[in-house]
Amino acid sequence: MNYIELLPDSARYDEIITIHKEKQKWINQDKKGFLRYRTPCEILQKFPATTVDCSGDAVTIGKPNEVSHTEQKQIDSALRDFIPWRKGPFSVFGTDIDTEWQSQRKWQRLLPKLPDLKGKVVADIGCSNGYYMFRMLPYKPELVIGFEPSVQHYYCFKGLNGMARQEKLHIDLLGVEHLPLFPECFDVLFLMGIIYHRSSPVDTLRDVFASLASGGTLVLESQAIPGASPTALFPEKTYAKVPGTYFVPTGKCLQNWLSRAGFSDIELFCQHPMSSTEQRRTDWMQFESYSDFLDPKDSTKTVEGYPAPDRVFIIARKKR
Ligand SMILES: C[S@@+](CC[C@H](N)C(=O)[O-])C[C@H]1O[C@@H](n2cnc3c(N)ncnc32)[C@H](O)[C@@H]1O
Repeated sequence: MNYIELLPDSARYDEIITIHKEKQKWINQDKKGFLRYRTPCEILQKFPATTVDCSGDAVTIGKPNEVSHTEQKQIDSALRDFIPWRKGPFSVFGTDIDTEWQSQRKWQRLLPKLPDLKGKVVADIGCSNGYYMFRMLPYKPELVIGFEPSVQHYYCFKGLNGMARQEKLHIDLLGVEHLPLFPECFDVLFLMGIIYHRSSPVDTLRDVFASLASGGTLVLESQAIPGASPTALFPEKTYAKVPGTYFVPTGKCLQNWLSRAGFSDIELFCQHPMSSTEQRRTDWMQFESYSDFLDPKDSTKTVEGYPAPDRVFIIARKKR
């Protein structure tokens, strides 16, 4: 079933359907850039898993004894076509995917403040391969929609869920900029690792606010700079080698943005320095990683000489 039929009445159905169809037409072209990920996705979708366990650190889809040795090799090879793997870990029919990020640590940090997801309509904006969407499943959401514009991540999720067959989880090739098509739609919205990539972060937070149902909750996670002043760093070109980074706020600055965007009950509940044990090079992500982004002589600074990043976690509500 398509997720669009499951959205609340306030959704701008016609426009969502138009964009959905346009994106599907685009991605269904037989071009190298799409086939590169569509082909392994279609291979993975042929193997429905009996075991699906999203309650542990590694999302487990299928056990080795559910497939033959030849099939296991086919699955392993298709999974490798999605290298570099960023978010995880996953264990798929016996293939253990040690991803660049130990995403279970982020999940564990937000668990103490995880809003009630039972029966809720949830959005995960910039969901990557859906690791956190899978982790939401044990909390029984009604529907989780991942917004993800990257073709690689989109097909990776489609491949994983083609095996896991979880009908509550959906993905579409959308970006945070499409939120205005979803007024008052979401009970809970996750915006993690996104806000510092927006050139107008307060406008983005206003769009997030408008897309929440009355009484809805935002779970916001972001890169941040240390400090108590309400300021944001605006890098000249890159921040920790990453282009497309605009404002990197302090926790206090982020709270002020949320307040100015209309949110209430704003609570910063965790702030910690980023670490090279949490984001690192592995066999499944062989490019540069966090330690390469820091000044080799002073790990409190990025290679550009800016303060090295913290990560902050905030929940905030839209008042009834
Ligand atoms: C830093 S990662 C964060 C992934 C995940 N949310 C997390 O916290 O680990 C940013 C993600 O946003 C996706 N993305 C890129 N442009 C986007 C946009 N305009 N709207 C939403 N997501 C976007 C990227 O493809 C990537 O998967």
